[in-house]
Amino acid sequence: MNIVLGVTGGIAAYKAVLLARLFVEAGHEVHVVPTADALRFVGLPTWEAISRHPVTSSVHDDVPEVRHVALGQRADLVVVAPATANTLARMAAGLADDLLGTTLLATTAPVLVAPAMHTEMWQHAATQHNVETLRGRGIAFVGPDSGRLTGDDSGPGRMSEPTQIFAAAQSLLAGRHPHASESQIIVDQPTSDLAGLTVLVSAGGTREPIDPVRYLGNRSSGRQGVAIAAAAAARGAQVVLLSANVDASVLGEVGERSTTRVVPVGTAAELEAAARTEAAGADVIIMAAAVADYRVAEVSEGKLRKEDTGGTPPTLQLVENPDILRGLVVSRAPGQTIVGFAAETVEGEDELLERGRRKLARKGVDLLAVNAVGWIEGFESAGNTLYILDRTGEVVRRINGTKRETADGLLDSVLAVRLARDIL
Ligand code: CTP
Repeated sequence: MNIVLGVTGGIAAYKAVLLARLFVEAGHEVHVVPTADALRFVGLPTWEAISRHPVTSSVHDDVPEVRHVALGQRADLVVVAPATANTLARMAAGLADDLLGTTLLATTAPVLVAPAMHTEMWQHAATQHNVETLRGRGIAFVGPDSGRLTGDDSGPGRMSEPTQIFAAAQSLLAGRHPHASESQIIVDQPTSDLAGLTVLVSAGGTREPIDPVRYLGNRSSGRQGVAIAAAAAARGAQVVLLSANVDASVLGEVGERSTTRVVPVGTAAELEAAARTEAAGADVIIMAAAVADYRVAEVSEGKLRKEDTGGTPPTLQLVENPDILRGLVVSRAPGQTIVGFAAETVEGEDELLERGRRKLARKGVDLLAVNAVGWIEGFESAGNTLYILDRTGEVVRRINGTKRETADGLLDSVLAVRLARDIL
């Protein structure tokens, strides 16, 4: 398909490079039309190298080819990412004093817009009015997300991740071309974007035996890890799920797929052994399981009985379990992306992120997914709020939704990390 990618002058222009690459890799012809301002953020050679086509922002180049309208006429889809507040205003007014403006007026193809700006600018009545006008003309929007903005600001206005924009673009293309394959028509996730990758996920909570009938355990249901496994499989990955005491009703959510293998484990030691074996073939490792930090030093062969201890409560001697995640990071295979989880009991968001950052530094993972837990929060629930920190400790995403939605958001971040590493 022929895609015109309009890029306008915001810092998120650098992320549009990843978007262009996703389009090219999916087999589309990509013509990038940057505005003059966009070129201050990302230069022409980058766009030409990524799109493999000549790039200009001027209506005065290639005049014999009538380029100012030809690009729009030939397009199957026009994507504007990032779209600044100024761009939305220009689009609403129908201005055509640069190549992107003329292209947008000349096209009859669907148009997808990914806004990016500071929260105040996004919420301003003028911008919202422009958005309404554009929606009224059938223009599709993706985002903006809520999260870290330029400077110290954060809030709604952050451009959606390239993988999300890519997914929305694919579904628009599928709608326009009814013969497109079924798999392209799913709206909320880019199908097959994990094809070729093996994803190792741990889920549930380990149980450390005290005697044959008792154990030390935790309240992790395994729902989040199972949702990640299911989402990764739905997106084309080969999945190995290390299931630590996950209830059959929850485990059922991974479904019957030839591409998903479930390895049941009980204790931290079993989880460690399975993780070491399976890590060898994994491109992505996501440790969502709650691992007991300690196990009982001497497990009793027989059931502990009150009558044997003469009524004195027994004392359990504990020894520390290995840090499985840290071990995987230390012996990581080249190109492996490793993700940890941190469930913390905290007073507020600041403390949550602060603890998350400390854990991130200790573990050395590529991404850490942090969420708050408490007596009520976090466990057994269908929903979850996840903060995803990158290696530098920056919140790259805040996802509030069902466990499946947070799973997909986390996988989007994994893809973004892998894409950025390849490209930079
Ligand atoms: N983890 C692990 N092995 C352990 C403990 C934890 O692999 N022995 C992993 C978990 O699967 C999770 C991450 O490390 O991905 C963080 O788990 P958490 O229990 O929060 O970390 P701890 O290092 O145990 O930190 P603390 O108990 O001090 O909060």
